[in-house]
Amino acid sequence: MKYYNMSQIRSIGVLTSGGDAPGMNAAIRAVVRTALYHKVNVFGIFRGYEGLIDGEIKQMDYVSVARIIQRGGTILQSARSEIFRTPEGRSNAYGNLKKFNIDGLITIGGDGTFRGAQALSEEHDIKVIGIPGTIDNDLYGSDFTIGYDTALNTVVEAVDKIRDTAGSHNRLFFIEVMGRDAGFIALRSGIATGAEDILIPETKTTIDDLVEKLRHNRRESKTSGIIIVAEGDEEGGAFEVARKVTEKFNGYSTRVTILGHVQRGGAPTCMDRVLASTLGFEAVKAILTDNSGVMVGQINKKIVLTPFDKATKHHQEINRSMLEMARILSL
Ligand code: F6P
Repeated sequence: MKYYNMSQIRSIGVLTSGGDAPGMNAAIRAVVRTALYHKVNVFGIFRGYEGLIDGEIKQMDYVSVARIIQRGGTILQSARSEIFRTPEGRSNAYGNLKKFNIDGLITIGGDGTFRGAQALSEEHDIKVIGIPGTIDNDLYGSDFTIGYDTALNTVVEAVDKIRDTAGSHNRLFFIEVMGRDAGFIALRSGIATGAEDILIPETKTTIDDLVEKLRHNRRESKTSGIIIVAEGDEEGGAFEVARKVTEKFNGYSTRVTILGHVQRGGAPTCMDRVLASTLGFEAVKAILTDNSGVMVGQINKKIVLTPFDKATKHHQEINRSMLEMARILSL
């Protein structure tokens, strides 16, 4: 294998920020081992930008990332930093990077993480590369983000179990899944579980239409059902939607389940481990070939670098034909 460190970079830092996602550890491992292979020092920065500001920085070696590829969460821990949103916070963070002679930073996270990285690299002399790590899959520039596949499998397993009890008791369940601004988890898990309806923030939800559909299902002798509600739906979360529906139609005994943070934990799936390893490896390659201000993603199996502002502002589009298909298949 070739060495491709043509840059001036001798030391890089790696951090995870925002909501953790299964597979982040596999990405950290790939970053550390690829950098060491290229004779570049690597520093782990703990608790995201908070730890960068507080100087929680530790040099990593091969052993620091041994036996972590299969673990959920992030060994570097994570945080959502308010102070890093300020120029003073970023200036303190830069001061710590200089103290450790770190000249490149790899950030693993979602849109907030990349907005922070972009501001840091615009204000200070530091190269920054992003790796998409979020269960929400809501970034432009990668077909899938690290953690999404594992979260989906967690949701599917849970909904299948709820389906068993729903059928046994002739009940209608409203199940809330994560996705504050995006319906990707809801759409894909809804298809995989044969949900009777899927409510997502990207499309207008009409309670009357949902009620009409449930009346139809009842007439057609559907005795139980599953409605998947993305937490960011404009009609509210699952409790709120269930309340609005039952005010107009009480043909079913209803229950609500909020899956919550269980969706963010657990061992990453094979798909997430391979994606994370690939993107970690490619992120180091990108920084050592003098790229900066970009997110490393994979589109149609090819590695693509997308500028941060495009990755965060142009949230990838929901596939409306999949939603249509889900509705037809659940009739
Ligand atoms: O960004 C991932 C995510 O899990 C969202 O789906 C969810 O809305 C949010 O994080 C929850 O954040 P927190 O753990 O800070 O409550």
